[in-house]
Formats: sequence, C-alpha cells, structure tokens
Amino acid sequence: MKSKNILLSLVAGAAFCACATQPAVKEEPSLKTVLGDKFLIGVSLNTRQSSGRDTASLNIVKRHFNSVVAENCMKCEVIHPEEDRYDFRQADEFVKFGEENGMFIIGHCLIWHSQLAPWFCVDKEGKEVSPEVLKQRMKEHISTIVTRYKGRVKGWDVVNEAILEDGSFRQSKFYEILGEEFIPLAFQFAHEADPEAELYYNDYNMSSEGKRNTVVRLVNEMKSKGLRVDAVGMQGHMGMDYPDMEQFEQSILAYASTGARVMITEWDMSALPTVNRTANISDTLAYRKALNPYPESLPDSVSEHWNARMEAYMNLFIKHADVISRVTAWGISDSDSWKNGFPIKGRKDYPLLFDRDYQPKPFVKELLEKK
Ligand code: G3I
Repeated sequence: MKSKNILLSLVAGAAFCACATQPAVKEEPSLKTVLGDKFLIGVSLNTRQSSGRDTASLNIVKRHFNSVVAENCMKCEVIHPEEDRYDFRQADEFVKFGEENGMFIIGHCLIWHSQLAPWFCVDKEGKEVSPEVLKQRMKEHISTIVTRYKGRVKGWDVVNEAILEDGSFRQSKFYEILGEEFIPLAFQFAHEADPEAELYYNDYNMSSEGKRNTVVRLVNEMKSKGLRVDAVGMQGHMGMDYPDMEQFEQSILAYASTGARVMITEWDMSALPTVNRTANISDTLAYRKALNPYPESLPDSVSEHWNARMEAYMNLFIKHADVISRVTAWGISDSDSWKNGFPIKGRKDYPLLFDRDYQPKPFVKELLEKK
C-alpha cells in the first residue's frame, strides 16, 4: 500500500512539474478584455444569430462581446403582431443565447413609431383610439414583455426616436394621441414591470443641437418626477462626413449632465457616399450605380480614412468612459449590416468592426494588440 502511495506521489509530482514548465495558455486578445474596464462592448444579433444558425458570427460574439441587443425580434410588429397575440419565439431564443453566454442583455425596443403593429393605435373601424385606450395598450404591451424577461433582460430601450433634429417631437401616433406624456408613461410602465431593469431613451443624430436640448430637457423632467432613466442612447449611425466629432462630444457631455449614463447603442459607419443622414427606416432612396461605388471591395484610401475615423471615435468613447457605460455595434460583420439596404437597397457597405470574412478591421486589430 505504502509503495502505491509513493508511486502516486511521484506521478502527481511529475505531472505538476510538466504543467509548471508549460507556458500558460495565452488567452486570445478580445474587445471585452481590452475594453472591459471602460465600458460594456456589445453587438446586435439578428435572428440567424440568436437562433444559433450563424455559427461564424457567434464565434466572434462569444469571444469579443459581453452585451447583446435584439436587432429586430422584440419590435412590436414581431413580438405583438395582434392585440391578443404575442409571438415570443425569437425573443426567447435571443434571451436564452444571452443568458447561456453570460451577456448583459438589452431589449430593443418597447415604444417606437416604426415597425409598430398596425392595430396598436386604431380601433376595429380603423379610427384612432382615445388617449385612455392607447395608455392601456402601452401599459399592457410594456408590462407583458418586460415582466416575461424580468431579471433577465438587464436594460430596455424604452422609447426610440421620438424627437426630430430640430428638437420638435416626431408626429407619431403616440405623440398625436397622448402628446409628450407618452414618453414618461412608457418609462413608468417599464419600471413598474421590472424595478431592477435599466431604462434608456434611444435616438439617432443625437449630436444635433435641437434634439440634444429637447432630450436633455425630457430626461431632466423625468428624473425630477422620480422616474428611472439610467441612460441616454446615442445610436451612433455615422458616415464618412458626419457627425462632427466636436458636436458629438458636446452631446456626450450634455446627456451626462442629466446624471444619466451615455450609451453608444447602434454604432456603425457607412463607408459609402452620404446620401442622407437619417436612420429613420422609411427615408429610402432609389438605387443609382454612382451611389454604390465599391461593389467589389473598398479602395485602400477609403479603408484607411474609414479606419482612422472609427479609431478616433473609439478613442473619444474611451476618453469619456467615466460617463459612457456601453458601446454597441449594430451588427457583427459587414454582410449583416442594415446599411447594405438603407437608405438605398442593393448597395455594398463596409460599416462594421468585422469584415465579410469575419476578420477584425485594421483599427480593431490595433486595439487588440494594445492589451
Ligand atoms: O423578417 C422579415 C422576413 O420574414 C421578410 O421575408 C423580409 C422581407 O420583407 O422582411 C424581414 O423583416 C425585415 C427585418 O429587418 C429583418 O430582416 C424588415 O422588413 C426590415 O424592415 C427590418 O429592418 C430593420 C429596421 O431597423 C426596421 O426594423 C433592420 O434590420 C434594423 O437594423 C433596423 O434597426 C434600426 C433600429 O431598430 C432603430 N434605430 C435605427 C436602426 C436602423 O434603421
């Protein structure tokens, strides 16, 4: 018995020595390790990805990101297509993926004028519903969805794109029927459904001065009423010539002055000629070949300019990491991007952090080498 113990000790000792001499397995550098001490680094998932079918993309997500947001599967027309029917199938898959991979899960979006189920603001005769009916429908929609994912979805884009660049309110059905009140009501209903969830106002072109001033006023008013507003989402849909970085930085500071955090929620940068600066999905244009100048690949000069702008914005986000709590890209690789079809269908764009071969763009490679 004694000799057996001696033999086991010798084997264990030899194994220990072998391990001790092996070089530690070096963890592959990733965005979440490089940026993890600054802010969450997130990405939107389409349903091919959240259902597990797009494994090449998911390998990137698991390695580089610690937050995910639903690109489309939680939008009203998808998740609540009829007044008495919800379809949680795709949203359940999305949340399950997020939980299985330890992600900070974001729900997008509870109240939005676009992709709104056609029944939401009208009665059976097609006439606009009363303010009381709309309030009840908003409460039921928000409460049903937020309650289902209570404690699992950590943050919600509660209201999306309610303000125009000049600071006026978008003339959505929500605004026409309820006025400004629909916004605080949405935040109230979401908080009642999950008091622990973070709540965000989310919009594009958030460096427009008019929009900035109205959003700051709105957030200050909601917070003064005791409503929970954790962050202002600057979507960050960019082009090669907009937004102006100084204006963008001023807006980061203005939104942070409310006491809310700032999140870059849908970051991408079109490498193509700018035809309009909106992210309002209905503002589309007809195809013209001149507006799709790089159908094969991006010229080096354009790629260098694009990478330099992206690096400059990432450096701006890092500079303000004290108030920026999340940076999320709106898609994994260039082939995923909505920008291939907006504002002009059939263009080939190069707006994201990973290319069509799932390789990191040069500015990302440089970032990864810093760690
Ligand atoms: O899933 C259907 C499919 O069944 C159908 O065959 C196909 C053709 O009609 O449409 C598919 O739905 C499309 C959906 O994307 C999923 O691919 C919708 O038509 C299309 O309108 C939708 O576009 C999305 C757009 O929002 C409108 O919801 C984009 O993918 C998405 O990237 C974009 O994201 C928005 C944010 O939610 C809010 N901020 C602006 C941003 C860009 O518009």
